[in-house]
Amino acid sequence: MGFLEDVIEGLSSEKKHISSKYFYDSEGDALFQAIMKLPEYYLTNSEFEILSNQGSAILEKLELDGRSFDLLEFGAGDGFKTRVLIKSLLENGASFRYIPIDISNDVLDGLKSTMSEEFPEIEVAPRNTSYFDALEELSREKGSRLKLILFLGSSIGNFDIDRASEFLEALQTRINVGDKVLVGFDLRKNPNIVLSAYNDSQGVTKAFNMNLLKRMNRELGADFDISAFEHYPFYDPEEGIAKSYIVSKKKQSVRIGLADQSFPFEAGEVIHTEISKKFSIKEIEKLADKAGLSIQQHFYDCKHYYVNTLFVKK
Ligand code: AVJ
Repeated sequence: MGFLEDVIEGLSSEKKHISSKYFYDSEGDALFQAIMKLPEYYLTNSEFEILSNQGSAILEKLELDGRSFDLLEFGAGDGFKTRVLIKSLLENGASFRYIPIDISNDVLDGLKSTMSEEFPEIEVAPRNTSYFDALEELSREKGSRLKLILFLGSSIGNFDIDRASEFLEALQTRINVGDKVLVGFDLRKNPNIVLSAYNDSQGVTKAFNMNLLKRMNRELGADFDISAFEHYPFYDPEEGIAKSYIVSKKKQSVRIGLADQSFPFEAGEVIHTEISKKFSIKEIEKLADKAGLSIQQHFYDCKHYYVNTLFVKK
C-alpha cells in the first residue's frame, strides 16, 4: 500500500492513525537530522559514545580470527554514527565490505560518496532493496562471508514488541550460524528525560510530527489547516512507550483531494503517529529468546541510557 491508501485507511479508522514511516520525506529527513542535534535528544549522543569508545571491544566479540566479513547496515541514514564504528574497526585491523541497505537511492548515493571519500580502503557496496531481499541476495552470492548486521538508532523502537520480535526472527532465519546483529535499543529511564526527548524546547520534534500534515497537503492535495492542529507527545513509563499524536484543536473536516473524500475531526480528537519503545534488559532478553538469537554482549553508554546489543545466531 502507498501513502494515499494508508492515509485513507488511517483517517477512516475509529482511532485515527498514520504510520511514522511517512515522516521521512525530504523535509522530514532534514527535521530528523536537526532532532539528532538537540540537547534533549540523548539517544544519538549515547549511541555515538558507545560506537566511538567500544569499537575494539565490539570487534573482539565478533570472533573473526582474522577473517574478513560483510558489514551490513539497515537504514543507514547519513552514516554519522556508522563512520565512528568503521573508523574504529579499521584502526583495529578489521577487513570488511560495507553494505548499506536502504530503499532511498538518495541516501545510498550520499553514503557511497562520503564513505568512499573517508575510507578509500574499504569497498562500499550499497543495495537499493528491502532489508530481507538484500539478505537473500547476499546468501546467493558464492563464497558468502560472515555478516555483521547493524540496526542502529533505536529504529527497532518504532515497532511494538511483537513486531520487533517478528522482525528479529525473520532476520534470524535469513542469516547463517555465527552471523551477528548489533541493535541499538533505547533503555527505560526517568520518564521526564524520555518525554523531553520527544518534546524539545525548540519545537523541532513538533515540526517533525506536524510535517505529516504538510506532506499530505503537498502530496495528496489535502487541505489541513496546520494552525488548527497541535503536537501531543506522551510517555507511558509502565509500558515504556513514547507515543506521538496530532490533536485537532476544533471540530473540523479535512478534505484529501486525491481521495476525493473528507474526514471529520471532533475537537480534541487525535491522530496517532508514532511509537518509540524504551526497553528493559529483561525485554531485550525475551526478544532474543523469541527470535532464536543469543545475546553475545550488551554495550552501554556511561549513563546507561542506551544499549547496543550484539546478538549471534548459534
Ligand atoms: C528514528 C525512530 C529512532 O523514535 O526516537 C525522533 C524518531 N521521533 N523524535 C525515535 C523520532 C521523534 C526516532 N527514531
